[in-house]
Amino acid sequence: MTAVICDINPEMLEVGRRRVADAGLSERVSLIEGNAEALPFEDRCFDAYTISFGIRNVTHIDKALADAYRVLKRGGHFLCLEFSEVQVPVLDRIYDFHSFEIIPRLGQLAAGDGQPYQYLVESIRKFPKQVRFAEMIRAAGFQNVTYRNLTGGIAAIHSGWKI
Ligand SMILES: C[S@@+](CC[C@H](N)C(=O)[O-])C[C@H]1O[C@@H](n2cnc3c(N)ncnc32)[C@H](O)[C@@H]1O
Repeated sequence: MTAVICDINPEMLEVGRRRVADAGLSERVSLIEGNAEALPFEDRCFDAYTISFGIRNVTHIDKALADAYRVLKRGGHFLCLEFSEVQVPVLDRIYDFHSFEIIPRLGQLAAGDGQPYQYLVESIRKFPKQVRFAEMIRAAGFQNVTYRNLTGGIAAIHSGWKI
């Protein structure tokens, strides 16, 4: 089995390249610079497409989903891990407090800048919630779309198939 890792940021790819080498996987894993909205791959060339904590950062989510569909073979599996909406009472309020009051302050203390952490929590709130995101995946052409909440919805894994 082989895998291709694609990221728009060459510095992130360099970190990934070192980790792949350290794990002894350089023969089987290639790393390619590219935009998830216009992937540098031919149509129908992958059996599976996974994206974790990435799709929230793309400018046009619908374009990234359409390109995921394009590069998958028939029978291909799409899996996406992303922050989502907490759906457990009480936990949602604790999570909000932690997100808006603790995380930016910790970022300020640890990294000297709370702004990126503020962006993180705001981008999580702006990202489509579980049901809406599932609809977007369906609209891109995927079928049998489901999702599974992790830790009450702090994150969710969405799954879809190109049939
Ligand atoms: C929060 S990191 C997640 C990295 C990794 N997937 C993980 O789970 O540890 C988000 C990554 O998305 C990449 N990214 C943002 N916009 C992108 C785009 N349009 N196309 C490809 N990668 C993108 C960033 O460069 C960054 O490496």
